[in-house]
Amino acid sequence: MGSFYITTAIDYVNGSPHLGHAYEKVLTDVIARFRRQLGDRVHFLTGVDEHGQKVQASARQRGIPPQQFADEVSAEFRALLPKLSISNDDFIRTTEERHKKVVRQVLQQLFDKGEIYKAEYQGFYSTRQEQFLQEKDRNPDGTWPEIFGEVTEITESNYFFKLRQYQEWLVGFLAAHEDFIFPRYRQKQVLEFLKEPLNDLCISRPRERLEWGIPLPFDEAYVTYVWFDALLNYYSAVADQPGVWPAAWHVIGKDILVPPHAVYWPIMLHAAGLPLPGGIIAHGWWMQSGSKMSKSTGNALNPLDLVAEFGADAFRYFLIREMNVGQDSDFTREQFLVRYNSELANNLGNLVNRTLNMTTRFAAGVVPAAGPAEDLERALQDLWTKTRDEFIPLCEGFQFHTALERAMFFLTETNAYIEKRAPWKLGKSAAPSDQALLRTALATMAEALRLAVALIQHVTPGTTEKINAVLGYTPGPVWREELVWGTKLTGATVAPALVLFPRPAPPAGEKKG
Ligand code: ME8
Ligand code: MG
Repeated sequence: MGSFYITTAIDYVNGSPHLGHAYEKVLTDVIARFRRQLGDRVHFLTGVDEHGQKVQASARQRGIPPQQFADEVSAEFRALLPKLSISNDDFIRTTEERHKKVVRQVLQQLFDKGEIYKAEYQGFYSTRQEQFLQEKDRNPDGTWPEIFGEVTEITESNYFFKLRQYQEWLVGFLAAHEDFIFPRYRQKQVLEFLKEPLNDLCISRPRERLEWGIPLPFDEAYVTYVWFDALLNYYSAVADQPGVWPAAWHVIGKDILVPPHAVYWPIMLHAAGLPLPGGIIAHGWWMQSGSKMSKSTGNALNPLDLVAEFGADAFRYFLIREMNVGQDSDFTREQFLVRYNSELANNLGNLVNRTLNMTTRFAAGVVPAAGPAEDLERALQDLWTKTRDEFIPLCEGFQFHTALERAMFFLTETNAYIEKRAPWKLGKSAAPSDQALLRTALATMAEALRLAVALIQHVTPGTTEKINAVLGYTPGPVWREELVWGTKLTGATVAPALVLFPRPAPPAGEKKG
């Protein structure tokens, strides 16, 4: 049993959570649940990034102290988690003492080792990305890319972390760990970035300009640059828990891979003498009409609205089914409804209805024992074995969208099997051979349903639980053993019906034609 520590990015609390934040939590949760199913000892951390200029500015706008503002918005982020069925073990806020203590320790240690020096800084800063910019970040026409928002030039004395001296080391590390960043093509982008000389990293802001941060332990006139502070959350949250660090995987969006996670973070750890994490998973963006959904641009979708309308599992299912991890996806309600109706309501929902309905009608609600498998049953069982054997490696490689596609195909074929077997015809016949085949058909559809929902339970935990309950079934503790076609349901008493994915109400004002 391995140890598996997984983290999300910690969200800035400068505005309410949107679909992009929800996606990252769901994706991380799907990975965490999957690893737990495989038997790993999982520790799952998420949280919020409360310091920095962005948050200070938002608090000022509201006319309240930054701590009060952070308290309010953090509560909102935290409240989202149970609504999305997120199974995190911990939630960290960077204003917590356990975090600040570690940040101060690491800073002091690096300062004592001579890794930090003071100098004059002149350059450009993006508050929206909380990032120092370089000339090469400009568009060819000299303007700054839109993602940076407003860019300001600053000149001031600051503290610098000697990033540059570790450039060669990092290149060597990445060359030796080809799988450090997923998807792999992103690792190539990092190496491309590292072809240019790195600048040392400015890790302080004078307090007269930025109050809202962790004071430097060696100079109280400054606070810590928010990225230096934030990245350390992954370590500070578990610093006192033996055996957790460094078995870590960081799930983040592609916008914060280079340079924070792929350059600053490994170098910070290495300089501090700490072991490096296992890797980084960089997902793509949810877009709307071609631009990144974001707190600052006003095109954000509130995930809670979709969850209220369709339930957490339908929401989770859509995000994971639709998005190829690493690439971008446009969010449209139309596409959501297409998948909801065809895959969840029709495909899965139908199989549930038919299984409960026919078992109730033809077998007094008790799943019968199957007779010997005939060609139709054998074909479905073979498809099951193939589906399962492909599904698990796909999930191990974060190809969840393809894995779900395979699971859906199995459900489609199960429904097709029912059409071909036509239990409703068999039920009308008193011939013993037809009655035997009917029992086989009922057992087969119930078993196929049990297996399919066991397979996707890390994506749809609530639905799997509900379906198991109406099948009168309690799964055993070992997930892989649940995935073997067999007789686990024989004799189980099923419920007569379950409404799982109700048709959404048509939008107000729309009449049915
Ligand atoms: O970057 N689609 O916080 P953040 C998918 N505090 N993911 C999205 C997204 C979208 N439209 N918009 C944002 C920060 N995200 C820092 C992180 S970690 C030590 C500090 C993702 O609130 C984004 O890529 O701007 C990031 O991974 C996370 O949401 C938080 O973004
Ligand atoms: Mg952002």
